[in-house]
Amino acid sequence: MENILYYGDNLKIMRESIEDESVDLVYLDPPFNSQADYNVIFRDELGEAPPAQKKAFTDFWHWPEAVDEYEDLLEGGPERIRRLISGFYEIIGPNPIMAYLVKMTARLIEIHRVIKRTGSLYLHCDPSASHYLKIILDVIYDKKNFRREIIWRIGWVSGFKTKTANWIRNHDTILYYVKSGGFTFNKQYFPHRADYKRRGQVDATAKTPGIPIEDVWNISKEERLNSIQIMSFSKEKLGYATQKPVALLERIIKSSSNEGDIIFDPFCGCGTTIEAAEKLNRKWIGIDITYHAVNLITKRLNDAFGDYCEYRIIGIPEDYPSARALADQNKYEFQWWALDLIGARPAGGVEEKKKGADLGIDGVYPFIDDEDRKSKIAIVSVKGGRTGPKDVRDLLGTVEREKAAMGVLITLNPPTKRMIVEAAAAGSYQSYVFNKKYPKIQILNIKDYFEKKESVQLPLHTGRSIAFKKAQKVVKEGEDNQNNLQI
Ligand SMILES: C[S@@+](CC[C@H](N)C(=O)[O-])C[C@H]1O[C@@H](n2cnc3c(N)ncnc32)[C@H](O)[C@@H]1O
Repeated sequence: MENILYYGDNLKIMRESIEDESVDLVYLDPPFNSQADYNVIFRDELGEAPPAQKKAFTDFWHWPEAVDEYEDLLEGGPERIRRLISGFYEIIGPNPIMAYLVKMTARLIEIHRVIKRTGSLYLHCDPSASHYLKIILDVIYDKKNFRREIIWRIGWVSGFKTKTANWIRNHDTILYYVKSGGFTFNKQYFPHRADYKRRGQVDATAKTPGIPIEDVWNISKEERLNSIQIMSFSKEKLGYATQKPVALLERIIKSSSNEGDIIFDPFCGCGTTIEAAEKLNRKWIGIDITYHAVNLITKRLNDAFGDYCEYRIIGIPEDYPSARALADQNKYEFQWWALDLIGARPAGGVEEKKKGADLGIDGVYPFIDDEDRKSKIAIVSVKGGRTGPKDVRDLLGTVEREKAAMGVLITLNPPTKRMIVEAAAAGSYQSYVFNKKYPKIQILNIKDYFEKKESVQLPLHTGRSIAFKKAQKVVKEGEDNQNNLQI
C-alpha cells in the first residue's frame, strides 16, 4: 500500500475510497466543539510587514448544515445509533452541539468500518464534548471494547489560568477503544536506571522490563521531562494552532501498532500523526479539509524526511474542471490554492483585512529587489467567478496606492481581450537585482495554467513565511543517525 494524503471532507473520502477493515490504528483529533475559529499567523521573514492572520479552520457548528447527515443517520444508521441520535435530539434540540454530535457520529461509524478486527481507535477531545463522544463510541464499538480514558496533560499553568475563579483545567482526554478482543498492544516502558534493583532482589538479570510509561509519577522529574519531550515541542511548532507533539503520537503508535501497519488520521491538521508514523516505519493515510493543512504537511514531510518519504496526494485540483469544482464549492479554499500556485501568501492581518475588504487584496508575494535588501511586494487578486477589465484597473489602482511593485490577477475564467490590453498598458517594473523588466500587471488564467503550462514572471520570493516554518529533520527509527548528518 502507498501512503496517501487526501484533501477534502473525510466523510466523503472514507465512504468512497477507504476499504472495510483496512487500517490498523486510527488517531483522530477533530475540532472539539470549542465554538472558535483557529487562525494561522503569517509573519514577514524580514520583520517589515505586520503579521497577517488568516482563518485555518473553524470550530463553529450550525444545525442547518447537519440536517442532511442527521436524516441519513435516522434513515440508514444502525438501529442503536438511530435510537441514540434521536434521543440526543430530544434532549439537546437543533443547536450547535447537536450539529457537532451528528457530524461526529457519521464519521465515527465510517471509522469503525475501516478499522481491522485487530485495530484500535484513539479519539482526542476535551470536556466540551468528551462525555457525549464516549456514549457514541460505547454504542458504535460496544462498551466492552472501551479500554481507557487517557488524560493528557497539556502544559504548564500560567497567565490568566492561575487567576481564574474556577478549578484549573489542564488536560485533554483521549478515549481509547479497540475493535475486538484480539487487538495489538505493545506495552511501553521507561528502562530502569542501570543501578536499579527491586527491593529484596538478588539476581539483577531478573529485572522487570522497566517502569510503564504511564506511571510517570514513579520516575524523576528529569527523566519525565526527557521522556515526554515537553521541552522540545516549541521547536516542532509550525504555526498551526492545534498542533500536537510528535512524542504523544509516537507513544500511541508504538503501543497500538507494529512496523508496516497502516495508521489513519482523518483530521490530520499539520500532519503530526503522519510524521510520527513515517518516523516509526508505518504506512499512513491522512485527510484534511483545508488546503492550508495539506500544503503545510507536504512541506513538513519534505523538511523532515527529504526524498525518503514517498506518498500520493489526492484531491488537489489537477486540471481545469477540478479547479472550477473547488471554486464552486468553497471560494476561500480556492483562493488559498490559487495563491499557492505562484508562492503568494493570503492577506489577512488587521491592516490588510481592512484594506483587503475594500480593495480586493487577496494575497501578497514578497521579494527582495533593492540594494538595501528591503522587501517589496506584488499584490495578488483572485477571481473565481466573472471577471472583466475593471478588475485589471482596480488592481493597478491598488498597486499604485499601496506603492507595491507589481500586481497579479489570477482568474478562473479566461481573460477578455480588453483585459489583456489593459494589463499590457500598465507598463513594466524594472528589477534592480535581476536587471530585467517585468510586466507590472500580469494575468494568470487557471485554464492556461493547466492546459498551456503558463505562469507569471516574478522576482525570486524572499523565502518562507512563519506559517511555513521549516520543520526539524527527522531520523527514521532504525536508520543510522550518522548517515543523516548534514555536513
Ligand atoms: C484539531 S485539528 C488537528 C490537529 C492535528 N492533530 C495536528 O497535530 O496538527 C483538526 C483538523 O481537522 C480538520 N477538519 C475539520 N473538519 C474536517 C473534515 N470534515 N474532514 C477532514 N478534515 C477536517 C481541520 O481542518 C483541522 O486541520
